[in-house]
Amino acid sequence: MKAIRSAAVLRDTLHGPRYEKKRIGLVPTMGAFHAGHLSLMREAKEEHHLVVVSLFVNPTQFNDPEDLEQYPRSLVDDMEQAAAAGVDILFHPTADEIYPKGFDTRVEVGDIARRFEGEGRPGHFSGVATVVAKLLNIVQPHSAYFGLKDYQQSVVVRRMVADLNLPVEIVAMPTVREPDGLAMSSRNQRLDRSSRARAAGLYRTLRRLRDQLLAHEVGAPASAILTAGRGDLESEHGLQVEYLALAAPDTLAPLTAVAEAMVLLAAITVGGVRLIDNVEVRRPHVRAKAGGAG
Ligand code: PAJ
Repeated sequence: MKAIRSAAVLRDTLHGPRYEKKRIGLVPTMGAFHAGHLSLMREAKEEHHLVVVSLFVNPTQFNDPEDLEQYPRSLVDDMEQAAAAGVDILFHPTADEIYPKGFDTRVEVGDIARRFEGEGRPGHFSGVATVVAKLLNIVQPHSAYFGLKDYQQSVVVRRMVADLNLPVEIVAMPTVREPDGLAMSSRNQRLDRSSRARAAGLYRTLRRLRDQLLAHEVGAPASAILTAGRGDLESEHGLQVEYLALAAPDTLAPLTAVAEAMVLLAAITVGGVRLIDNVEVRRPHVRAKAGGAG
């Protein structure tokens, strides 16, 4: 695996004679790799000749400077794991390389980026969209891989790619979880023992809410189910709920009634650590039509 820090060197490497006609897959990351990141890298490798992983803790998407400072960094370990997953090039630029002096442009996605995560973390998705647009332009991959763990992020990126006619296929991969259901996240490292145990209640509750939603007819009101779910997260599991919401999968338009296809989205804080998770809720015949099983 090659490690490259300069965008110009990366472009010359990728678009020079050696890699001509090769299919390139990109996995954008902020490092501190776990099995979720590795699943994206392995899938990219299955489908492309050449896999580029970008590792950049993007300052513009952190609205809280303390969160940026505390973000785990483990470059040496990450390089080993990426190489073992079959990654060809690790692009790990400095902040000055991505945001040189005078940098003054932002990509701003509209309504989809303003709700849920966008509400609690103002400017977050503008930072994500800007850095992802830059990475797509630097690497010019055929496909780019994102995890459904960050459901809204994947929807925002798809919107941007469609709206700006970016010539790339966006692939969204399922959430990789710990044995007790907790979605893998770099932030889990910051949970103390008791918070770690309580955090598993988030996915358990989302699953239960999914079953409850599926037991209702399309058009039935969903607000009582959400209110009860919020209560369970708070009283049963001791989690502080920022939002627990039901939305349409493609547009993230909020839903107040049971629909054919929905996604449940949640953000909670436990032991001072903010965690997000989601589950898709599709009625069986919608699932069959989409051709998937789960
Ligand atoms: P990061 O949090 O490092 O995540 C990199 C990619 O891994 C994202 O697409 C994320 O959704 C995916 N991922 C994280 N946890 C996962 C899990 N448990 N299962 C499956 N996939 C998982 O997301 C970012 O970085 C940044 O916002 C980025 C897109 C790189 C822009 O800076």
